[in-house]
Amino acid sequence: MPANVPEIDRAVALLQAGELVAFPTETVYGLGADAANPTAVGRIFAAKGRPADHPLIVHLPADGYLDRWAREIPAVAWELAEAFWPGPLTLILKRAPAVSSAITGGQDSVGLRVPAHPLALALLRAYARAGGGVDGMSGIAAPSANRFGRISPTEATHVRDELGDAVGLILDGGRCPVGIESTILDLTPAAGLPPRLLRPGRVTPEQIRMVIGVLPEIVGHPGDDGTPRVSGSLAAHYAPTTPLRLVTPERLTEAIERLRCSGQRCAVLCRNELPDDGAALALRRLPSDPRGYARTLYAALRDLDHAAADLILVEEIPTTPAWAAVADRLRRAAAGAGRRMELARRS
Ligand code: TXA
Ligand code: MG
Repeated sequence: MPANVPEIDRAVALLQAGELVAFPTETVYGLGADAANPTAVGRIFAAKGRPADHPLIVHLPADGYLDRWAREIPAVAWELAEAFWPGPLTLILKRAPAVSSAITGGQDSVGLRVPAHPLALALLRAYARAGGGVDGMSGIAAPSANRFGRISPTEATHVRDELGDAVGLILDGGRCPVGIESTILDLTPAAGLPPRLLRPGRVTPEQIRMVIGVLPEIVGHPGDDGTPRVSGSLAAHYAPTTPLRLVTPERLTEAIERLRCSGQRCAVLCRNELPDDGAALALRRLPSDPRGYARTLYAALRDLDHAAADLILVEEIPTTPAWAAVADRLRRAAAGAGRRMELARRS
């Protein structure tokens, strides 16, 4: 992506002034603010309608910035950074003393990643060159640039639709090539215990094992104490406003037909060819490989959500490990869909 220099300069000036800038990453669009400026970080929470105890990921220009933000960094963190950064892997590490609790949701850990999108990297590097904001920390905090609990944006227009005037500038880098959020790996468990996979993504447990020799423990749900440490781990995340139901490939045609007979309008997200799509109000067919499917999933869900259907039917996907990250997002979309009011009350 050719970085448009005047736009990057404007973005840097806005971040320095404590304002919000949305930017593309290889996963989804992020809503960025200077991570060392608690007032600016507060604006992210206000714009998203996100509860203050949900920690944010800090984006860094390069691995070399890791020790400004984390302490007691284990060797495996450097190995993983070397292998996967820039890229869609977020590492949870013990936070450095300077890291504000506005970022960490009051926890003793911090989420860090170096994104791979050329425009995100250009922004991060320009920000660092310009002094790196408050205390020269050079971190940009950025959750996905959607309202809390909704579908993450994978195109600049999605950000505009979600957040409108709440964001000063949206850098347009086209469609995000990965399309679902980064893998989150918690490296804070004591030495000898495996790292914990809090959110599945493009970087798989097996790829992690190949680098560090240990398979992460797959958790990905709220802590035992009930604290939603990963906001994406709330069951109701990544959800459209239209109710959504998963249906096996064998039962899809029948389910569409049944809805039609009962006078309900349905939208359909499928992977295989449908014998007859006449009964569906809107139909999206996604690629049959997991990467292609992930890349287009959120845009398709957004479209179908706008189809004024009573129900979105989603054809179930394979249960193999290659589909784990997509399966996770679909499960949460099904759990959260149509629950706009409830989410609004909670936030
Ligand atoms: O791909 C991504 O990760 C995108 C792009 C913009 O980088 N960002 C993203 O941010 O998905 P967000 O805030 O929507 O999801 C990040 C998750 C949050 O659910 C948050 O709870 C979790 O990371 N997280 C951040 N710091 C954490 C920490 N210290 N411990 C546990 N989870 C943490
Ligand atoms: Mg999010």
